[in-house]
Amino acid sequence: MNQQPSGWYRVCDADAVAEEQAAEFVVEGQVIALFRHQQQWYALDAMCAHQGGPLAKGTVAHGCVTCPWHGWQYELASGRQTIHNQKLIETYPAEQRGEAVWIQLQPAQSETENSHE
Ligand code: FES
Repeated sequence: MNQQPSGWYRVCDADAVAEEQAAEFVVEGQVIALFRHQQQWYALDAMCAHQGGPLAKGTVAHGCVTCPWHGWQYELASGRQTIHNQKLIETYPAEQRGEAVWIQLQPAQSETENSHE
């Protein structure tokens, strides 16, 4: 796996995940769910905060993924669980560079989220 000094890791070829699909990848020992939704990439910890359900196998709609096991729903961009509006899943910056998808394994900072507001 390729790494850049800033903590970015090449995860896969972009065509490995079709639009509106997701897949799990192990990056530096962490299991990451990578989502391709509405022309954006989202990287989240792969296991649901409830009982460890596989989020990459969940249903995605309107920027949220619904866990396939008991239906907890999370915002892809923030990791917030929608019912309690609490961030329960870690998210990571993800982007496509050419034909590859990269993620940065440092968790997204709340300051970064705020800078987009
Ligand atoms: S394990 Fe995800 S909702 Fe229960």
